[in-house]
Amino acid sequence: MSSPFEVLGVDRDADPREVHRAYRRRVKETHPDQGGSASEFQRVREAYEELSSGRRELSAGDVDDGADVDDGADIDDGSDEVEGSQVEYLDYAVIDERGWSIDDPDLFEKAESAGVTEDHAGHLVNDWGTSLLEAAEDRGCAWPYSCRGGACANCAVAVVEGELSIPVNHVLPEEMVDRGIRLSCVGEPTTDELKVVYNLKEMPDLEELLLPPRGRARGSD
Ligand code: FES
Repeated sequence: MSSPFEVLGVDRDADPREVHRAYRRRVKETHPDQGGSASEFQRVREAYEELSSGRRELSAGDVDDGADVDDGADIDDGSDEVEGSQVEYLDYAVIDERGWSIDDPDLFEKAESAGVTEDHAGHLVNDWGTSLLEAAEDRGCAWPYSCRGGACANCAVAVVEGELSIPVNHVLPEEMVDRGIRLSCVGEPTTDELKVVYNLKEMPDLEELLLPPRGRARGSD
């Protein structure tokens, strides 16, 4: 069985920044929307979690020499400090399946009451200055995307509460922006709290704005 270092393609003495960079690269390589397999994507996610948690344990321990681990917080947000926007997310596939609407004011409450599982809903901390898509990937989510540059709608999300600023938008018509549709690959939260519906590429209104390949988000069957 491959070690987490092998899965991420880093040396055993890689520092946290190298591990994080390798993780981001492997997430893109194995993303189901980019032709990767869901199982390989999951292996990458687990490898990163294993290395991250190992470094956190070392950081908290009293026997290490402090040379390589004391900046483990660079890897993820694993501390109680909140340095970004608190994001709550919900999969559009759930809304579609149940006949709900993204305009429903009680959407997230309904999802919670309905017991929507963590494959389709959850929370994350989006560090300031990081795109929502990157934050979701750091959380281990396989949200859809294609160009990662504001030129398609594959990564679109609907902002239900809060604000997601998009400095680049080559694709969304003004009318959609007015409805709260944003691009997660370039969008960065500007509010302390944010609620979004992701996986909007399954929404018929966006079909003409998508770029191939049209993969499916994890858990959207
Ligand atoms: S992935 Fe194409 S605009 Fe975000």
